Amino acid sequence: MSPSRPAAVIILAAGEGTRMKSTVPKVLHALCGRTMLGHAIAAVRELSPQRLVVVVGHGRDQVSEYLAREAPDAQVVIQERQGGTGHAVRTVIEAAGGIEGQVIVTYGDMPLLRGATLAELAAEHDAAGNMVTVLTATSSDPAGYGRIIRDASGAITEIVEEADATGEQRLIDEINSGCYAFEGSMLADAIKRVPPANVLGQEYLTDVVAILRGDGYRVGTRRAADSAEIQGVNDRVQLARARRVYNDRLLEHWMRAGVTIIDPATTWLDADVTLEPDAEIGPSTQLEGRTAIASGAQVGPGCVLRDTVVGAGATVINAVCESAEIGPGASVGPYTRLRPGTRLGPGTRAGSFVELKNAVVGEGSKVPHLSYVGDADIGAGSNIGAATVFVNYDGVAKHHTIVGDHVRIGSDTMLVAPVEVGDGAYTAAGSVITQNVPPGEMAIGRARQRNLPGWVARRRPGTRSAAAAEAAQGHPAQGHAAGAAQGKEAPSEGESA
Ligand code: UD1
Ligand code: CA
Repeated sequence: MSPSRPAAVIILAAGEGTRMKSTVPKVLHALCGRTMLGHAIAAVRELSPQRLVVVVGHGRDQVSEYLAREAPDAQVVIQERQGGTGHAVRTVIEAAGGIEGQVIVTYGDMPLLRGATLAELAAEHDAAGNMVTVLTATSSDPAGYGRIIRDASGAITEIVEEADATGEQRLIDEINSGCYAFEGSMLADAIKRVPPANVLGQEYLTDVVAILRGDGYRVGTRRAADSAEIQGVNDRVQLARARRVYNDRLLEHWMRAGVTIIDPATTWLDADVTLEPDAEIGPSTQLEGRTAIASGAQVGPGCVLRDTVVGAGATVINAVCESAEIGPGASVGPYTRLRPGTRLGPGTRAGSFVELKNAVVGEGSKVPHLSYVGDADIGAGSNIGAATVFVNYDGVAKHHTIVGDHVRIGSDTMLVAPVEVGDGAYTAAGSVITQNVPPGEMAIGRARQRNLPGWVARRRPGTRSAAAAEAAQGHPAQGHAAGAAQGKEAPSEGESA
């Protein structure tokens, strides 16, 4: 156990977040695939605290439900009314009892705060033997923040809120982040002595600093290297800024790990995405959830991938994919949609205007153009002709289709599920296949063609079509219809009977 491992972390997340103008509680708004509260929890988890306490108030049902799902070990403390940061911590102490050892307090709306910065605060607190250590930052725009007041020796004496600050104090550019390390037993005692609600109805946690200092205890500060980390999010403008900063951090991380990002300005990553060295991400691409891209794969331009695994050397262009697996060397796009349960084997192809869902495509098989493949298993080396539809839905239930190895499905085939096409079989273009096709057979399921000679001259006289036909018939040697009928390698009528 690390000496700085805190006994508890308290995350304050009861505030209303009025400026978000949202039915969703502020801390549940997300950036890079994680809620703000989720970012706070991820950062504090890096310290492996023995207890995690989250104070909830506004939107408590939604926030509690989120915590039960995403952080079931967190202890939820309800703050009935938002009586200030001091009141929030007092509520925890009253609900949870005193906590011995180091207690970290931080906010649920500070998504850019890094775990490493919290670890530095915790380590400094232990090393200095402080009763409270305040995480501070230097800011060129300190307005709105509490200011750090120091004595002649440079030691912190108190934190003064902007509203209470003198003109001189407002010039101080060192601000309170709102994040602290406390000695738990001292916090429990001092929090009871915070002055009762001021004119704003608020008890200030910041007052604990002056209280402990007044008792003669050691109090100290730790300055964050990057003041951007302590910026809170109050509205959607600040949320977008924080998202940009977090996304840039992720992009920088992956570029330094060997990934090519062609256009960082239009590439958006979620926090849990993983990229291997020599992957290349093209412009206007969004990688979400647990998407993983292997080495040498090229994804983008124009892709949205959610929880999708892309194998080594695959290419994916202008595609929307969710919960799909794209095998090594496979080619997807442009204009392809892979829905959940799609598994493309090695060297496969899913081409333009193709949609797949719950479908396994074996090694080297291709679905090159204009097709829907739903609820299917396709073997290896097969080709699915243009405009083929796997007709999987009878209006009530979904049914499965099996296509074997080295099958050739003719263009515009309807495979009406449940149906099976055996290894090495063919289907004729335009067929509606409702019965199983045994291995090696050719299946034809379409109306026989009938030509009606002279129909246009009789039924559409005087049209350009009639004139064109007449001109063509004046030169019978160049008649297209006759030549085409003889030249085709299509199965003869005898075979289809
Ligand atoms: C607080 C600090 C200020 C600091 C600033 C940094 C106090 C008195 N002031 O000011 O010194 O510079 O944060 O951002 O602490 N919350 C609750 N319950 C409450 C009140 C607040 O859970 O009753 C939560 C909020 O959801 C928020 C956080 O605590 O996440 C901070 O509250 P807020 O009211 O924004 O504090 P500030 O006035 O910004
Ligand atoms: Ca605030």
